[in-house]
Amino acid sequence: MKVLVIGSGGREHAICWKIAQNPRVDRVFCAPGNGGIEIEDKCSNLNITDIDELRDFASEEKVALTVVGPEVPLTEGIVDKFKEKGLSIFGPSSKAALLEGSKIYSKNFMRKYGIKTAEYADFDDIDKALEYIENCSYPVVVKADGLAAGKGVSICENYGEAKTALENFMIKDVFKGAGKKVIVEEFLQGVEASILTVTDGNTIIPFISSKDHKQIYDGGRGPNTGGMGAIAPNPYCSEEVLEDFEKNIMLPTLKGIQQENLDYTGIIFFGIMITKKGVYLLEYNVRMGDPETQAVLPLMKSDFVDLIQAAVSKKLSDFKLEWKEGACCCVVAASKGYPAKYETGFEINGFKKENNIFAAGVKKEDGVFKTSGGRVLVTYGIGASLEDAVEYAYENLKKVSFNGMYFRKDIGK
Ligand code: AMP
Ligand code: GLY
Repeated sequence: MKVLVIGSGGREHAICWKIAQNPRVDRVFCAPGNGGIEIEDKCSNLNITDIDELRDFASEEKVALTVVGPEVPLTEGIVDKFKEKGLSIFGPSSKAALLEGSKIYSKNFMRKYGIKTAEYADFDDIDKALEYIENCSYPVVVKADGLAAGKGVSICENYGEAKTALENFMIKDVFKGAGKKVIVEEFLQGVEASILTVTDGNTIIPFISSKDHKQIYDGGRGPNTGGMGAIAPNPYCSEEVLEDFEKNIMLPTLKGIQQENLDYTGIIFFGIMITKKGVYLLEYNVRMGDPETQAVLPLMKSDFVDLIQAAVSKKLSDFKLEWKEGACCCVVAASKGYPAKYETGFEINGFKKENNIFAAGVKKEDGVFKTSGGRVLVTYGIGASLEDAVEYAYENLKKVSFNGMYFRKDIGK
């Protein structure tokens, strides 16, 4: 069978790598992919991004299954369009993708279905928002309603900061429409965890827990990035936390999806905050996390294609999802200057499959692997303990180098 994976990051490389392990899979196309994915057997890039063209390709090439990595094509309706043509695709409908695509929609959904989340108010009028922040307690969190590539959240310590954030989002329109409407939300203190789950609309199964490291500098300092490394499982996700999550967040979410009649076959990523008052839901993502995927998939013992096909055919209740023992850590190597300005085009040494590597901002020019983005690649390690996994991930990273390579030294520590 042929499989099509949509996306171009480290997450998609990990997805392609795992899918290619299924013996029934002959070819994996990654659209548009990146210069590093082709180190995997059976995998090649496909230079198409337009949804209609992708659908035509899937149809003409008799692609048996399409797996969507990022949120944007999901909110744009790629799943609806593929299904109209009878093509098999793993992901939520555009309406269901609003759970990520609109923070107001998702917070209202959480409130309606009794899912524990930070208190909030939503605004489309700056004067009302300004009035609200005069009397709220600080810190407060201002969030753009729409998709803002992970940058649409501002934690504000006082009125002045909140006012600036609101003006940037609503008046200066820094997110090109996505911040015209906002959420102003209670600040929660605690530790974060990422829990991916898979659903077919009837059954929902959690994956092993994970933890992202969002800030650029060691110790969680500096500006937020797309994620500088991840570990799985998340050491803060005790039995008790997972029980609280499943009972009070995960299952009510499935119930909400059913009651709202949302067509949802795919991944639901729950971004949670573990607090002294229990587990809160920060956000939904309607796709796998990056870089969480690069730490979670190496631990998946079950076949990923079998899992996805069970979900697509609504037979998830029969599927036994199994994990390897131990832990996994992945560390991101970024270009110097990221998440602000950075240079690209530097040769990457040691870009080899045996170094447990997934490519993100990588291109191949005249047979040479070169940097082409902010987050360039990850290396990962699997170990019996988290400490071992961390050590192996960093050992692999030592075998890789490029001009200006930057990475955090405290992932999983
Ligand atoms: P989100 O896009 O909603 O996940 O927010 C991005 C990041 O902002 C989260 O991963 C948290 O680190 C932080 N954040 C979001 N909402 C809150 C909140 N209510 N309290 C504290 N931190 C938050
Ligand atoms: N790692 C967080 C995300 O993928 O949004």
